[in-house]
Amino acid sequence: MAGYGTRDPREEESLLGNDVDPRSSGTSSLAAKSRRWTILSIVALLGVASVAAGYVVTGYEPSRDVTVIDRARPDSEVVSAPSSKPHKIPILPRACNSVDGGYQCFSEISHRWGQYSPYFSLADAGVSNTVPEKCDVTFVQVLSRHGARYPTASKSKKYKSLIQTIQANATAFNGKTAFLRTYNYTLGSDDLTTFGERQMVSSGVKFYQRYEALTRDHVPFIRSSDSSRVVESGRFFIQGLQQSKLQDRAADHSQANATINVVISEDTGANNTLNHNTCPAFEASTLGDDVSENYTSIIAPSMAKRIQSDLPGVTLSNDEVIYLMDMCAYDTISTTADASQVSSFCALFTEAEWSQYNYLQSLGKYYGYGAGNPLGPTQGVGFVNELIARMTHTAVQDDTTTNHTLDAPRRGHVPR
Ligand SMILES: *[C@@H]1O[C@H](CO)[C@@H](O)[C@H](O)[C@H]1NC(C)=O
Ligand SMILES: *[C@@H]1O[C@H](CO)[C@@H](O)[C@H](O)[C@H]1NC(C)=O
Ligand SMILES: *[C@@H]1O[C@H](CO)[C@@H](O)[C@H](O)[C@H]1NC(C)=O
Ligand SMILES: *[C@@H]1O[C@H](CO)[C@@H](O)[C@H](O)[C@H]1NC(C)=O
Ligand SMILES: *[C@@H]1O[C@H](CO)[C@@H](O)[C@H](O)[C@H]1NC(C)=O
Ligand SMILES: *[C@@H]1O[C@H](CO)[C@@H](O)[C@H](O)[C@H]1NC(C)=O
Repeated sequence: MAGYGTRDPREEESLLGNDVDPRSSGTSSLAAKSRRWTILSIVALLGVASVAAGYVVTGYEPSRDVTVIDRARPDSEVVSAPSSKPHKIPILPRACNSVDGGYQCFSEISHRWGQYSPYFSLADAGVSNTVPEKCDVTFVQVLSRHGARYPTASKSKKYKSLIQTIQANATAFNGKTAFLRTYNYTLGSDDLTTFGERQMVSSGVKFYQRYEALTRDHVPFIRSSDSSRVVESGRFFIQGLQQSKLQDRAADHSQANATINVVISEDTGANNTLNHNTCPAFEASTLGDDVSENYTSIIAPSMAKRIQSDLPGVTLSNDEVIYLMDMCAYDTISTTADASQVSSFCALFTEAEWSQYNYLQSLGKYYGYGAGNPLGPTQGVGFVNELIARMTHTAVQDDTTTNHTLDAPRRGHVPR
């Protein structure tokens, strides 16, 4: 977490200037000074090392997050401009893919990809996004995962191998499987796709516009985990935010650009509040996988049977059927920069099957990470306590997964 006013690099201080680490011997009270900062908004980009955390639907699977807090941020940088600046990405508005509405292309399919669905707004689907009358937004916190990415390295290997095996085994490619005869698996791994980069720019634009009353004269505080796709997501978010601010005549242009204030490690052993790996009992639970496996065994066989009938010589396991469904999402968001071309993998399945797939993903998240897992709620405890600490200008009161020091790598450079 960003500290405000640390003079002595040996002192570990919280965002709010209080001594956060009970073990630290720092005694100088910077509390009074820190109270001058009012936290108006927070943006947190978080990522998790292995499995997705199901908080936000913006991107793909697991990775890390970034947090942004508005107003609390003074002018200097904690994290120097990350090594490479993101290249400018033009935002090309499309009828089915816009900043406001999100991704509405092929929605009968693309909105049924579970956590693989690109962000889409429900505002036109009857879920109002307006602020209730007589209410004013005075604080905003965004908890976001990264933008759309390629499959993880391990999944990428499995997908590629499956496709090659199908090509080796099949003696014919009938019907909707015809494209598989020449399909060449060329997807990258782990990184954001171009589409995913644009999503994050759009997210920054949308954040700026939606909370304009705050963003035009407050610089958000931003926190990110250290996986490259999450840090990149933060940079693109900032790019969208700053571009919007630049275009807003009413904005305070004397303010510094937003920057990623804190990067928290996802390494094993690091106390990262937003990383579920810090709780061994939680990690040991296989409930989400068990439930998913059971449901997969209900839905996959009929799909396998149909696809195999078009691919004589091929035998698909339950998991392999799901891999082919995954490929619909990944191929779509990887092939073009605006995901305007639906993948041929998608047509292998019916709309009803996409609903089953969507449910399968929800089961995995609900029983793996959410309220369906007895330890699911513990995942949010540290995060909430950390937020309370910031808002009350007190040290973190928490013995779970909270990083008590919450200091940035370059502690000596924390902003005043
Ligand atoms: C598949 O794509 C790779 C990378 O673009 C290329 O080198 C290779 O020649 C392609 N293979 C086929 C069979 O088209
Ligand atoms: C601030 O952000 C704007 C918009 O992205 C950019 O043009 C400008 O170069 C940035 N300024 C600094 C000092 O980085
Ligand atoms: C807290 O996070 C910072 C920033 O990543 C790191 O340097 C520090 O070691 C962490 N502290 C603990 C106790 O994990
Ligand atoms: C993480 O926190 C625990 C409990 O406070 C502590 O024992 C451990 O040393 C911390 N790990 C790091 C890397 O600081
Ligand atoms: C999965 O199915 C098996 C066999 O029906 C059952 O014994 C087990 O309890 C199920 N597991 C879960 C987590 O539902
Ligand atoms: C391909 O054939 C091999 C050898 O018979 C078999 O082990 C494998 O399961 C098959 N894979 C697919 C996807 O058909």
